[in-house]
Amino acid sequence: MGNYSKMPKVTLKPLTKEFTETLRQWRNENRRFFTNQKTITKKMQQKWYNKYKKDSNDTIYIVFYEGEPVGALATIKKGKDIEIGRVMLGKKEYAKQGIMGKSLENAMSKYKNRRIFLEVLKNNEVAINFYKKHKFKITGEKNNCYIMQRWV
Ligand SMILES: CC(C)(COP(=O)(O)OP(=O)(O)OC[C@H]1O[C@@H](n2cnc3c(N)ncnc32)[C@H](O)[C@@H]1OP(=O)(O)O)[C@@H](O)C(=O)NCCC(=O)NCCS
Repeated sequence: MGNYSKMPKVTLKPLTKEFTETLRQWRNENRRFFTNQKTITKKMQQKWYNKYKKDSNDTIYIVFYEGEPVGALATIKKGKDIEIGRVMLGKKEYAKQGIMGKSLENAMSKYKNRRIFLEVLKNNEVAINFYKKHKFKITGEKNNCYIMQRWV
Protein backbone atom coordinates (compact mmCIF):
# COMPACT_ATOMS: atom_id res chain seq x y z
CA MET A 1 0.00 0.00 0.00
CA GLY A 2 3.03 2.24 0.25
CA ASN A 3 3.62 5.10 2.57
CA TYR A 4 0.62 7.34 2.09
CA SER A 5 2.01 9.99 4.42
CA LYS A 6 4.41 10.91 1.60
CA MET A 7 1.67 11.16 -0.98
CA PRO A 8 -0.10 14.27 -2.18
CA LYS A 9 -3.47 14.69 -0.56
CA VAL A 10 -6.74 13.64 -2.05
CA THR A 11 -10.09 14.99 -0.92
CA LEU A 12 -13.39 13.16 -1.27
CA LYS A 13 -16.50 15.25 -1.74
CA PRO A 14 -19.99 13.81 -2.02
CA LEU A 15 -21.37 14.19 -5.53
CA THR A 16 -23.26 17.39 -6.27
CA LYS A 17 -25.29 18.22 -9.36
CA GLU A 18 -22.48 20.18 -11.02
CA PHE A 19 -20.33 17.03 -11.29
CA THR A 20 -22.97 14.70 -12.69
CA GLU A 21 -21.91 15.40 -16.28
CA THR A 22 -18.22 14.78 -15.51
CA LEU A 23 -19.22 11.57 -13.75
CA ARG A 24 -21.30 10.51 -16.75
CA GLN A 25 -18.36 11.05 -19.11
CA TRP A 26 -15.96 9.09 -16.89
CA ARG A 27 -18.53 6.33 -16.51
CA ASN A 28 -18.94 6.08 -20.28
CA GLU A 29 -15.19 6.10 -20.90
CA ASN A 30 -14.81 3.28 -18.34
CA ARG A 31 -17.94 1.37 -19.21
CA ARG A 32 -16.08 -1.78 -20.25
CA PHE A 33 -14.99 -2.23 -16.64
CA PHE A 34 -18.54 -2.37 -15.28
CA THR A 35 -21.27 -5.00 -15.48
CA ASN A 36 -23.70 -2.55 -17.02
CA GLN A 37 -21.85 -1.53 -20.17
CA LYS A 38 -24.57 0.65 -21.66
CA THR A 39 -23.65 4.17 -22.67
CA ILE A 40 -25.41 6.60 -20.35
CA THR A 41 -27.14 9.52 -22.04
CA LYS A 42 -27.58 12.95 -20.42
CA LYS A 43 -31.24 12.21 -19.93
CA MET A 44 -30.55 8.85 -18.29
CA GLN A 45 -28.00 10.50 -16.01
CA GLN A 46 -30.50 13.15 -14.92
CA LYS A 47 -33.09 10.53 -14.09
CA TRP A 48 -30.51 8.46 -12.24
CA TYR A 49 -29.32 11.50 -10.25
CA ASN A 50 -32.83 12.36 -9.05
CA LYS A 51 -33.21 8.80 -7.78
CA TYR A 52 -29.70 8.76 -6.27
CA LYS A 53 -30.40 11.92 -4.25
CA LYS A 54 -33.26 10.17 -2.45
CA ASP A 55 -31.20 7.10 -1.58
CA SER A 56 -29.44 7.82 1.70
CA ASN A 57 -27.59 4.47 1.57
CA ASP A 58 -25.66 5.35 -1.58
CA THR A 59 -22.87 7.94 -1.44
CA ILE A 60 -20.79 8.76 -4.47
CA TYR A 61 -17.63 10.70 -3.86
CA ILE A 62 -15.79 12.80 -6.39
CA VAL A 63 -12.06 12.51 -5.80
CA PHE A 64 -10.11 15.77 -5.91
CA TYR A 65 -6.37 15.78 -6.36
CA GLU A 66 -4.75 19.16 -5.81
CA GLY A 67 -8.16 20.77 -6.29
CA GLU A 68 -8.88 19.01 -9.57
CA PRO A 69 -11.66 16.42 -9.96
CA VAL A 70 -9.88 13.23 -11.10
CA GLY A 71 -12.07 10.28 -10.22
CA ALA A 72 -14.92 8.79 -8.27
CA LEU A 73 -15.95 5.99 -5.98
CA ALA A 74 -19.02 5.06 -4.00
CA THR A 75 -19.93 3.41 -0.72
CA ILE A 76 -23.32 1.75 -0.57
CA LYS A 77 -24.79 0.54 2.72
CA LYS A 78 -26.18 -2.98 2.37
CA GLY A 79 -27.53 -3.84 5.79
CA LYS A 80 -24.49 -3.94 8.06
CA ASP A 81 -22.12 -4.39 5.14
CA ILE A 82 -20.63 -1.75 2.89
CA GLU A 83 -20.34 -2.22 -0.84
CA ILE A 84 -17.72 -0.33 -2.80
CA GLY A 85 -18.72 0.65 -6.30
CA ARG A 86 -18.14 2.93 -9.27
CA VAL A 87 -14.42 3.07 -8.63
CA MET A 88 -12.78 4.91 -11.48
CA LEU A 89 -9.91 7.20 -12.16
CA GLY A 90 -11.36 9.62 -14.70
CA LYS A 91 -8.11 11.39 -15.52
CA LYS A 92 -5.90 8.56 -16.69
CA GLU A 93 -2.77 10.73 -16.72
CA TYR A 94 -2.79 10.34 -12.93
CA ALA A 95 -2.77 6.53 -12.98
CA LYS A 96 -0.51 4.55 -10.68
CA GLN A 97 0.24 7.44 -8.34
CA GLY A 98 -1.76 6.02 -5.47
CA ILE A 99 -4.62 8.46 -5.92
CA MET A 100 -7.44 5.94 -6.07
CA GLY A 101 -5.77 3.77 -3.44
CA LYS A 102 -5.65 6.68 -1.07
CA SER A 103 -9.28 7.48 -1.90
CA LEU A 104 -10.36 3.89 -1.25
CA GLU A 105 -8.62 3.88 2.13
CA ASN A 106 -10.15 7.26 2.91
CA ALA A 107 -13.70 6.06 2.09
CA MET A 108 -13.24 2.85 4.11
CA SER A 109 -11.85 4.74 7.11
CA LYS A 110 -15.32 6.11 7.75
CA TYR A 111 -16.31 2.63 8.97
CA LYS A 112 -15.32 0.26 11.78
CA ASN A 113 -16.04 -3.44 12.31
CA ARG A 114 -17.64 -3.78 8.91
CA ARG A 115 -17.46 -6.18 6.04
CA ILE A 116 -16.55 -4.27 2.91
CA PHE A 117 -17.26 -6.01 -0.36
CA LEU A 118 -17.31 -5.37 -4.07
CA GLU A 119 -17.85 -7.03 -7.42
CA VAL A 120 -15.20 -6.87 -10.09
CA LEU A 121 -15.26 -8.32 -13.61
CA LYS A 122 -13.08 -11.43 -13.76
CA ASN A 123 -11.09 -10.04 -16.68
CA ASN A 124 -10.27 -6.76 -14.90
CA GLU A 125 -6.82 -7.75 -13.76
CA VAL A 126 -5.70 -4.20 -12.99
CA ALA A 127 -8.62 -3.62 -10.61
CA ILE A 128 -8.27 -7.07 -9.00
CA ASN A 129 -4.60 -6.34 -8.27
CA PHE A 130 -5.54 -2.89 -7.04
CA TYR A 131 -8.05 -4.35 -4.56
CA LYS A 132 -5.64 -7.11 -3.48
CA LYS A 133 -3.14 -4.41 -2.70
CA HIS A 134 -5.77 -3.03 -0.34
CA LYS A 135 -6.25 -6.38 1.45
CA PHE A 136 -9.36 -7.51 -0.42
CA LYS A 137 -9.59 -11.24 -1.06
CA ILE A 138 -11.67 -13.12 -3.60
CA THR A 139 -14.39 -14.90 -1.64
CA GLY A 140 -16.85 -15.87 -4.32
CA GLU A 141 -18.13 -15.31 -7.81
CA LYS A 142 -21.30 -14.18 -9.49
CA ASN A 143 -21.70 -14.58 -13.25
CA ASN A 144 -18.66 -12.93 -14.84
CA CYS A 145 -17.60 -11.20 -11.60
CA TYR A 146 -15.54 -12.05 -8.57
CA ILE A 147 -16.76 -11.00 -5.18
CA MET A 148 -13.96 -9.57 -3.10
CA GLN A 149 -14.11 -8.60 0.54
CA ARG A 150 -12.18 -7.43 3.53
CA TRP A 151 -12.98 -6.21 7.03
CA VAL A 152 -12.23 -2.84 8.48
C1 LIG B 1 -8.32 0.51 -10.81
C2 LIG B 1 -8.04 2.02 -10.83
C3 LIG B 1 -9.16 2.74 -10.07
C4 LIG B 1 -6.70 2.27 -10.12
O1 LIG B 1 -6.48 3.68 -10.03
P1 LIG B 1 -5.01 4.28 -9.70
O2 LIG B 1 -5.18 5.65 -9.13
O3 LIG B 1 -4.12 4.10 -10.85
O4 LIG B 1 -4.56 3.27 -8.54
P2 LIG B 1 -3.37 3.42 -7.52
O5 LIG B 1 -2.29 4.26 -8.12
O6 LIG B 1 -3.86 3.77 -6.18
O7 LIG B 1 -2.93 1.91 -7.39
C5 LIG B 1 -2.02 1.39 -8.24
C6 LIG B 1 -2.20 -0.13 -8.26
O8 LIG B 1 -3.31 -0.45 -9.08
C7 LIG B 1 -2.93 -1.41 -10.03
N1 LIG B 1 -2.78 -0.69 -11.32
C8 LIG B 1 -3.22 0.56 -11.59
N2 LIG B 1 -3.00 0.86 -12.90
C9 LIG B 1 -2.41 -0.22 -13.45
C10 LIG B 1 -1.96 -0.54 -14.77
N3 LIG B 1 -2.08 0.32 -15.79
N4 LIG B 1 -1.41 -1.74 -14.98
C11 LIG B 1 -1.30 -2.63 -13.98
N5 LIG B 1 -1.71 -2.39 -12.72
C12 LIG B 1 -2.27 -1.20 -12.44
C13 LIG B 1 -1.65 -2.00 -9.53
O9 LIG B 1 -1.93 -2.97 -8.55
C14 LIG B 1 -1.03 -0.79 -8.91
O10 LIG B 1 -0.08 -1.12 -7.93
P3 LIG B 1 1.48 -0.83 -8.22
O11 LIG B 1 1.56 0.66 -8.51
O12 LIG B 1 2.15 -1.24 -6.95
O13 LIG B 1 1.80 -1.67 -9.41
C15 LIG B 1 -7.92 2.58 -12.28
O14 LIG B 1 -6.99 1.80 -12.98
C16 LIG B 1 -9.23 2.63 -13.05
O15 LIG B 1 -9.95 3.62 -13.02
N6 LIG B 1 -9.55 1.55 -13.81
C17 LIG B 1 -10.72 1.53 -14.67
C18 LIG B 1 -12.01 1.43 -13.90
C19 LIG B 1 -12.09 0.18 -13.10
O16 LIG B 1 -11.64 -0.88 -13.48
N7 LIG B 1 -12.73 0.27 -11.90
C20 LIG B 1 -12.96 -0.84 -11.02
C21 LIG B 1 -14.27 -1.46 -11.32
S1 LIG B 1 -14.62 -2.80 -10.19
